[in-house]
Amino acid sequence: MRSFLLTLGIALLAMPVGGIASPEQDLADFREYYEKRFPGTPFHDYVNGVYSIDPESRAQWEEIEEFAPYELSISNGEALFKKPFANGNTYASCFENGGVGIRQNYPYFDTDRGEVITLELAINECREANGEKPLKWKKGPIADISAYMAYTSRGNVIDIKIPDDPRALAAYERGKKHFYQKRGQLNMACADCHKFYAGYKVRADLLSPALGHLTHFPVYRSKWGGMGTTHRRYGGCNAQVRAKPHPAQSAEYRALEYFHTYMSNGLAVNGPGARK
Ligand code: HEC
Repeated sequence: MRSFLLTLGIALLAMPVGGIASPEQDLADFREYYEKRFPGTPFHDYVNGVYSIDPESRAQWEEIEEFAPYELSISNGEALFKKPFANGNTYASCFENGGVGIRQNYPYFDTDRGEVITLELAINECREANGEKPLKWKKGPIADISAYMAYTSRGNVIDIKIPDDPRALAAYERGKKHFYQKRGQLNMACADCHKFYAGYKVRADLLSPALGHLTHFPVYRSKWGGMGTTHRRYGGCNAQVRAKPHPAQSAEYRALEYFHTYMSNGLAVNGPGARK
């Protein structure tokens, strides 16, 4: 009896407080939601965005992929990545494994600094540490460098960690809140379009599932006529509901990216991607 009560007590202590589920539980629930909604889509296929749930647009996209519009960005990104800074160092000096095959580890929570570090942030911090000016955040060279780094990481499985640090959990919760909170004149959350209405049409677009969203960034979008980073896309999606976008690399978007990428844990990197 005593040990039963003790076990019960421990079980109660381990329960999430105030209805906040653990990230592990969130992830399990998130996957299960899509599994039930799209029983025909195997888990690994969510890396293909809307094409994972719609055979018709998939055929068009496979044609686009044959002449991948991001090829030029990858080669441009590679040249930029390898070109020495004025001081003789290269980007490789700033990253683990010389920056090759590491996309799946970003964003991560830096427990020394107490903040979320995205790949683009690390790229610009590398420049500044080497006496170079930072690049613009949303497109152009930074997207190309990020595309090359993603390309060298294709096939590596996303494995975002939430370290045992209340600030890491707070960043995760902030991102989760952004994802589920309704906003803008249309009063819609990310989750409305990319979870509850995934697979439905909004004007000419079929809404993609958020599971696997961030495996293929940066992305070449025909509508942009070029590459864009994750935060460029976030700004566009905030604007769609007529909400004011947050600045790229703001703490808000970094937190969102942290939560959003964590929800794609277990899926393989396939960036850069191509979308309509
Ligand atoms: C009113 C509906 C709507 C809302 C709300 C919305 N989006 Fe989107 N989003 C779209 C549409 C439409 C597209 C383009 C088609 C697609 O891939 O879903 C898109 C595309 C995306 C993509 C690219 C998918 C890919 O495969 O490349 C990402 C990532 C994304 N949205 C994230 C978000 C996030 C994060 C939020 C909340 C800040 C959000 N969206 C809110 C409509 C919405």
